[in-house]
Amino acid sequence: MDRVDRIELGSSMLPTPYVNCDYETVYEPCEDSFLLLDCLEDQQEYLGSRFQDALSVVCELGPGTGVVTTFMMQNGIPTSGKSVYFGVDISPWALEATRDTVRRNKCDGIFMETVQCDLTSCLKPGEVDLLVFNPPYVPAENVPEIPDDAVDRSRWLDLALLGGENGMAVTERLLQQLDTVLSRNGVAYILFCARNHPEEVAERMRNEYGWEVELVIHRKAGWEVLSVYRFSRKIM
Ligand SMILES: C[S@@+](CC[C@H](N)C(=O)[O-])C[C@H]1O[C@@H](n2cnc3c(N)ncnc32)[C@H](O)[C@@H]1O
Repeated sequence: MDRVDRIELGSSMLPTPYVNCDYETVYEPCEDSFLLLDCLEDQQEYLGSRFQDALSVVCELGPGTGVVTTFMMQNGIPTSGKSVYFGVDISPWALEATRDTVRRNKCDGIFMETVQCDLTSCLKPGEVDLLVFNPPYVPAENVPEIPDDAVDRSRWLDLALLGGENGMAVTERLLQQLDTVLSRNGVAYILFCARNHPEEVAERMRNEYGWEVELVIHRKAGWEVLSVYRFSRKIM
């Protein structure tokens, strides 16, 4: 994968990290991953002014190959030289790939840790300033069971893709954890496909839970429409 992929899809200026992983076990970066990169590139000014000189804790849930985490590290998102990064994935293969991608792209001297766990269960409450998630969003009967590791490595890919009812089972769980995991000034970027009914989700998060929710980018990708929404607390 190289930069051409992303230029064809958007109007990005920042380079896309080099990735070389085993795509039989780890989700290969595609339109949704690139939309997130373009989103974060577009949001650089907003994030820079939101976090300014503070040390920021950044967490990508489900980093897969690590392309998004590496992109944030390379480009100082949200705050250059003042951020620490965590990649949290349920798949051990994704975490291995993330470490490898960070290494290949020479992000030396920047703190990055990978943790294997289910969503935010390993994270200290109230500490994450920037949270990013490209979830398993494809509608399916169920969210797959965690595979019995070495037996069939490719089953980890199902876990990367299939999101249960409306493709929202995993995302819904995260939405319920947002208030606990984000810092006071924290912000989350979450990717949706049209079949997740993101506008209804956004309305519910605004009306029932009082979040500020903004659609920041959307794009047609084949027959799918992908979008990224930004969630933050209302400033009183
Ligand atoms: C659609 S892939 C996104 C990969 C990468 N972020 C990208 O954009 O290319 C979803 C990722 O979420 C991970 N994942 C799925 N369920 C999870 C859970 N409950 N907790 C943590 N990670 C999960 C998968 O292993 C996979 O790496």
